[in-house]
Amino acid sequence: MRNLTILPITADLVKDRLRARLFGKQIFTFERLASTNDFAKRLAKGGRNVGTIVIAEEQTRGRGRQSRPWHSPPGTGLWLTLILSPTIKRSDLGLIPLLSGVSVAQTLEQFGFQPSLKWPNDVLINGKKVCGILGESEFRYNELDVLIVGIGINVNQTATDLPNDIRDTATSLRQASGNPVDRLSLLISLIENFERNHSIFSNDRREALLEEWRKRCPFFGQNITVRNDQIYISGIFEAVDINGQLRLRTNDGNVEIVNAGEPLMNGPEKC
Ligand code: BTN
Repeated sequence: MRNLTILPITADLVKDRLRARLFGKQIFTFERLASTNDFAKRLAKGGRNVGTIVIAEEQTRGRGRQSRPWHSPPGTGLWLTLILSPTIKRSDLGLIPLLSGVSVAQTLEQFGFQPSLKWPNDVLINGKKVCGILGESEFRYNELDVLIVGIGINVNQTATDLPNDIRDTATSLRQASGNPVDRLSLLISLIENFERNHSIFSNDRREALLEEWRKRCPFFGQNITVRNDQIYISGIFEAVDINGQLRLRTNDGNVEIVNAGEPLMNGPEKC
């Protein structure tokens, strides 16, 4: 990246400005880390360190969904993971990506962007992916033991900073606006939005949260294809239900409920 001073984000800088109470009470920052999700997972075992945030300037083995690599170059993006309490109901797990997506979208809106949400957990600007979310959980003796959510936002990459294979489908905030964005301010806003939405979720006001998600998703009523395990299902995107599951009306008129699908890009604006 050129002509932009890159100040590393440190725990002290974040704590000086953060007004959240749960998220960020413990913050780990790294110059370089394999993956913030991997580090956070180890911290989170046994339900420990709830509210901790792990942030890296660079990830050398950043991971995306479906075991894809997540390009995380130094100083240009926000690569972070939050540790959540594993006391939530199993049926609520599908809401965590939506909660995270809403939090990112509200943050980007505060910075003047108009993001949209793509089920279950992508944030787009002008139809291109600007943020990916990777929620991960681990069970022990059939009980939820670890719950984390990793968030990667492309902030100050130029078009040529993005790897060739994603240049057509991905963007950064800098590309979308033409201006660099202060990563620290963005991070503070994201954590505060996340904390507020998490509290809405914890107080069982999920319908309010879902409404925030739905109003930012332009894909309702469109024909989409999702991958559920190894099976591809196509149909009209009818709804996202109270557990965050996708409701798809297939060609034969049946309704398929998809809870862990991988939406395919049929074009930049399709789920
Ligand atoms: C996706 O495939 O869309 C999800 C991408 C998630 C990337 C973030 S960056 C911070 C955290 N650490 C990781 O290794 N992955 C997530």
